[in-house]
Amino acid sequence: MTKEQFQQEIRLGIPDTLPEMPPYDTEINHAPKRKDILTPDEKRLALRNALRYFPQHLHAALAPEFMDELRAYGRIYMYRYRPQYEMKARPLDDYPHRSRQAAAIMLMIQNNLDPRVAQHPHELIIYGGNGAIFQNWAQYRLVMKYLSEMTDEQTLVMYSGHPLGLFPSHKNAPRVVVTNGMVIPNYSKPDDWERGNALGVTQYGQMTAGSYMYIGPQGIVHGTTITVLNAARRVASRTAGRLPLFVTAGLGGMSGAQPKAANIAGVLSVTAEINPKAALKRYEQGWVDEVLYDLDEVVERLKAAGAAGPTGATMATGATETTETQTAQLAQRPQRPQKTQSAQKPQLPQRPHSIAYVGNVVDLWERLADEDIPVDLGSDQTSLHNPWAGGYYPVGLTLEESKRMMADDPELFKEKVQASLRRQVAAINRLADRGMYFFDYGNAFLLEASRAGADVAPTGAKGGASFRYPSYVQDIMGPMFFDYGFGPFRWVCTSCDPADLETTDRLAAEVLEQMMQEAPAEIRGQLADNLHWIREAGRNHLVVGSQARILYADAEGRTRIALAFNEAIRRGELKAPVVLGRDHHDVSGTDSPFRETSNIYDGSQFCADMAVQNVIGDAFRGATWVSLHNGGGVGWGEVINGGFGMVIDGSADSDRHIREMLLWDVNNGIARRSWARNAGSLMAIKREMERTPGLVVTLPNLVDDELLKGY
Ligand SMILES: NC(=O)c1ccc[n+]([C@@H]2O[C@H](COP(=O)([O-])OP(=O)(O)OC[C@H]3O[C@@H](n4cnc5c(N)ncnc54)[C@H](O)[C@@H]3O)[C@@H](O)[C@H]2O)c1
Repeated sequence: MTKEQFQQEIRLGIPDTLPEMPPYDTEINHAPKRKDILTPDEKRLALRNALRYFPQHLHAALAPEFMDELRAYGRIYMYRYRPQYEMKARPLDDYPHRSRQAAAIMLMIQNNLDPRVAQHPHELIIYGGNGAIFQNWAQYRLVMKYLSEMTDEQTLVMYSGHPLGLFPSHKNAPRVVVTNGMVIPNYSKPDDWERGNALGVTQYGQMTAGSYMYIGPQGIVHGTTITVLNAARRVASRTAGRLPLFVTAGLGGMSGAQPKAANIAGVLSVTAEINPKAALKRYEQGWVDEVLYDLDEVVERLKAAGAAGPTGATMATGATETTETQTAQLAQRPQRPQKTQSAQKPQLPQRPHSIAYVGNVVDLWERLADEDIPVDLGSDQTSLHNPWAGGYYPVGLTLEESKRMMADDPELFKEKVQASLRRQVAAINRLADRGMYFFDYGNAFLLEASRAGADVAPTGAKGGASFRYPSYVQDIMGPMFFDYGFGPFRWVCTSCDPADLETTDRLAAEVLEQMMQEAPAEIRGQLADNLHWIREAGRNHLVVGSQARILYADAEGRTRIALAFNEAIRRGELKAPVVLGRDHHDVSGTDSPFRETSNIYDGSQFCADMAVQNVIGDAFRGATWVSLHNGGGVGWGEVINGGFGMVIDGSADSDRHIREMLLWDVNNGIARRSWARNAGSLMAIKREMERTPGLVVTLPNLVDDELLKGY
């Protein structure tokens, strides 16, 4: 298809005549059939809702087709309207547009839906099993048409994938305002999502899925790397002289980052993945080193590794806290271990190495506990935010059996999931009793395990939302990163040119080098790790889809890096505008008591003022688009999260937007965390007030513990 034909298709939106039905592609990973939750009357309502996108003369042809889809898949995706052009991010000027900001949003939408990037691209599910960008293809077509027509004096309003319309606004207003899954709080149970989504009136936007900010698994690699790196530092005394062993599950959208991150962090890893397609996708992308289908082989491999004792391999994690030493060690590491698929005989990995085990993680944990394999680090990234609809596959059932049961007998399926979680926790507990450091990875694992009656009760009083094991935020990300404002800043080069990405990497590294000279001791280690990350990012081949980069940075870092990019665009050193954004999983973006805000201990972890305020504040300080979601990460009804996208184009307006919005976007959360008495945030917000005229934050007075003992 030529560029002109592509542009014509975009401008056309929903055609007046029936497009050809594209074939059902069996090569692609499809969403599981959803629960049959609607009554016959509600099914008619779902059909009526779907048909309102189309002219009446097409209704007689479309009604039976859509009803068949509803019966077969539990949703009406409108497969007939899936466009036939290649779905991928294109250079900005390939998009028909009257607003360059709107064109950048089209690029981001197409990148989310790129089959190399999205989990179930034909069902418009980007990651996490149910994280949707739109509910159906009519919405996609209509949104792209609106974006191609709109000017910088209009705002597109998005209700859970549905484009409500274009409304007049002004050039400094957001071009798009997105809400996903906003419901009356009493209607926020998982079945309310199932019903509303089947009716076509709401969707689960996850975080970056429904906000057009997903950049493939790279988006999570940096966060996962610093988590695994710092988790491994915690067990350094136990693993001295050998590679730490990390065991986890999930090679899906986000979880697929684990083996790559484990390699970068310098550990040996085994990741269980029940879906062979997902495992092979990550293998083909070079994100996991080998795929094994047999537990005997996995065990043999690990025993060979353990039996050999100290490997002398590069090992970031056993190092002391001196980040410079680690940086040097990491730099020596081979970047891409040679691929071997199901090797003939067990080989001893002489360096960080990642194994995908195709099978159920419960079988893996039980076998490792039985064999007494010294697992050092453990976690889980199955999609337990979505336990009953394909996020977690119970042990003892094949993938296909599970898919059938969750649709045909949801109650029995729920029992199987809960029994499976009890077994999984029992095996994990055995290994933890032998010294393994286990952490919840923000997927609601401990929450769902506790609901299933698994033994995850806290062993001592910690306060907050505590279980037997910490969440990665309680022990690592919260106190070391979020509390100081470090979060998953990211950018996308809209030229789609790798050379531009290289330039931005260099500019970002230069900023961090300067910051290192002036940084206080409390954040020098984090800056050093981040500097190492960005220096190595190009060599680690992280790009899947658009020319994007993730870099954990604090408010000062984000602002200075963004200003450097804007200057480079102005000078012509970068060929096109840059989109700035972040994961919602950040300092201020997300209120989630079992994840991002699990290290808030003043009782406010169940409040969502921070996330809502964040989006409102970003909207009037220069964001190009903002989004607010129910759910995301931990599950529908369990979290509120918000995000933004900002297109910078070298203008003075962009400079102003960067300064005003990024300051707020990070310091809102630091201020809230400091009010919750988090030590890092108290330090960070005082420093920010010294730096920033006009910033006046209410600080807490700390109470002497001795005084409280009397009460
Ligand atoms: N902590 C974080 O920073 C963070 C970031 C992103 C996502 N998450 C959470 O992690 C979870 C995973 O996210 P995702 O995008 O990878 O989801 P996903 O659904 O794309 O991937 C999960 C994978 O787990 C596999 N799986 C499910 N049950 C299994 C079992 N019993 N044994 C082996 N494999 C099994 C599935 O086949 C799937 O491929 C989500 O709950 C998400 O919210 C956490």
